[in-house]
Amino acid sequence: MPNIVGFSGTDLNLYHNLLVDLTEMYCQMWEYDPNFGEYKKCHECGKFYSHAWVEANKFVTKTPCCASNFVPAWPRKETMEKIISHGNDSTFVGYLLVEESEILGFSWGKCRWNYEMTEKLGNELYSPLLVSNPEAPACFYLEELAVSPSQRGRGYGRQLANSVLSGAVKIYPNHTSVLTTHKNSDAVKIYIKAGYAYLGDHPGVEDRVTYGIDRVSSLQLDNI
Ligand SMILES: CC(C)(COP(=O)(O)OP(=O)(O)OC[C@H]1O[C@@H](n2cnc3c(N)ncnc32)[C@H](O)[C@@H]1OP(=O)(O)O)[C@@H](O)C(=O)NCCC(=O)NCCS
Repeated sequence: MPNIVGFSGTDLNLYHNLLVDLTEMYCQMWEYDPNFGEYKKCHECGKFYSHAWVEANKFVTKTPCCASNFVPAWPRKETMEKIISHGNDSTFVGYLLVEESEILGFSWGKCRWNYEMTEKLGNELYSPLLVSNPEAPACFYLEELAVSPSQRGRGYGRQLANSVLSGAVKIYPNHTSVLTTHKNSDAVKIYIKAGYAYLGDHPGVEDRVTYGIDRVSSLQLDNI
C-alpha cells in the first residue's frame, strides 16, 4: 500500500537515487500525458509537440510553428537541477507517494513574490487576488501534482494535494495561492473542490489555465 511522505531538498541531496527516480518520473509524466504532451518543443517559441505528433511526423525536421529545431521538452540534467532548486527553497512544501522505494506520485509548492507572479501571469490575471487580499505577503504557488497512471482514481491525487495545501495553510495562511494546469486535467476537479477559482488562460502556453484563491486560509481542505 503506497504512503504519502514529506520531502525536502535535503532528502534529494542525500539520496541521489531518489532524485534520479523523481526526475525520471517527473519528465515522463509530462512527456507522455495525453493532455500535456510535452515531449519535444520548438527551440524558438517553446510550443510543445507530443510523442504522438513526433511519431506521426517522423520526417519533419523543422518545427511547423517557427521552422526552428525540435529540442527535448524535459532534458534530464536541467530538470534535475530545477527539482533540486525547488526542493532547496526555504518555502518549499513537498510530498511523495511511495511504495517501498518506488515513487508513484508527487506534489509540491513554494512561495513566490507578488511581483514575480505579476511578471509570470500578467497583471490582469494576478491583480484581482491582490485587490481582495492587499495584505498578502506573497503567493503560495502549487507547482506540481501528479500520480502514476497505474495508481489513478484511488484518491492519491486528492491526498497529495491535501498534504501540500495543509502545509501551506499552517505556514502561509495569509498568502494568495495560484496554480497552472491543463484545462482537461482531472486535477481541475480537485482544485475547484479546494476553493480555487479560474483566473484565466495562462498567457503564452496553449490550453493551460490558471486558478487562484485570494487567501490560503480560505482553502476548503475538508472538501478534497
Ligand atoms: C490529476 C491527477 C493527479 C489525479 O490523480 P488521482 O490519484 O487519479 O486523483 P484522485 O483519485 O484523488 O481523483 C481526483 C478526481 O479525479 C477523478 N478521476 C480520477 N481518475 C479518473 C479517471 N480515470 N476518469 C475520470 N475521472 C477520474 C476522480 O473521480 C476525482 O474526482 P471526484 O473527486 O469528483 O471523484 C492524475 O490524474 C494525474 O497525475 N494526471 C496527470 C498530471 C496532471 O494533470 N497533473 C495536474 C497538473 S498541475
